[in-house]
Amino acid sequence: MKRRLYNWITQRLMNACPTSLLNKGHDELLRLRIRAQENLRQRQARQSPSLTQSINSHDGQRLTLSILQKDAPWLGISAPPTTIPGMLTTSEKQYYLYITQFYQGVGSVVELGPWLGLSTHYIVEGLRKNPHFSNRKMSVFDDFVWRASWMQKWLEGTAISAPANYESFQPLFTQQTQAIAEYVDVKRKKITDYDGNQALPKIAWPQTEKIELIIIDCGRSLAVNEGWWDIFSPSFIAHKTLIVMQDWQNHKCVPEVFWENTKIFTDSKQSQIELIHEVSDAGIATFLFHGQQ
Ligand SMILES: C[S@@+](CC[C@H](N)C(=O)[O-])C[C@H]1O[C@@H](n2cnc3c(N)ncnc32)[C@H](O)[C@@H]1O
Repeated sequence: MKRRLYNWITQRLMNACPTSLLNKGHDELLRLRIRAQENLRQRQARQSPSLTQSINSHDGQRLTLSILQKDAPWLGISAPPTTIPGMLTTSEKQYYLYITQFYQGVGSVVELGPWLGLSTHYIVEGLRKNPHFSNRKMSVFDDFVWRASWMQKWLEGTAISAPANYESFQPLFTQQTQAIAEYVDVKRKKITDYDGNQALPKIAWPQTEKIELIIIDCGRSLAVNEGWWDIFSPSFIAHKTLIVMQDWQNHKCVPEVFWENTKIFTDSKQSQIELIHEVSDAGIATFLFHGQQ
């Protein structure tokens, strides 16, 4: 009875509401829902901040859960500037310098979607300080297809001339990352078909080559996320592999957009992965792999 009355009143109110106000109200409720979800994740992390199986950095720090903390352990790290253009916030640069300190040398490091190499630069800078990375290289994949509609604007204020639409920008990546060339193994391959990359070969990864750290910055759709998961997850190591999703927090977009599927994707993996970090003022979230179900 109460529910019927509630439904009747809300329906009446909504019918009387101007469209613009209803849209505004819808967006406010969505923001509230996102904040409630964040708050619940923060509470859960505060209640049990330790990982079930401990992971330590090369200098003895323990990896703990940290969800949108204003005093997160990476926020004190200095991230020296570089001239490489790119799409990272300051806390994302700090985070890459931080998370790479937990690399233990039990598997490979993979980066998907470096663009011109800004993320690659900070990941490698972090790895170079970690003795477990000595004599190793990070595997880097991108289709290197220039998509002027959303890439061009990131060159503003630089002296770099943009490639033609759909041309390869791998030469630009090579030029920008010259200083760290010896630490990376770069391949022009695709994860899934996407806007101009149809003719390129798909990434193949041998299941026997285990992966300890994977950093993904190449899209938000279910298709691309399922794409890298299918290629790489058979090589993940239970309770060890760290999955850094640069764009994860894009699902918080208000109003909603249909291609921001990062949370749907990670929710679908359920107990296979556990959220351990959500970086504030950033898009990054990191998951610990627990095993295929
Ligand atoms: C947002 S940008 C990466 C920004 C970069 N990490 C930085 O630090 O500035 C996304 C990158 O993913 C690549 N990409 C997108 N979809 C892809 C796909 N299906 N296969 C391979 N690469 C892809 C793009 O070419 C682009 O370089």
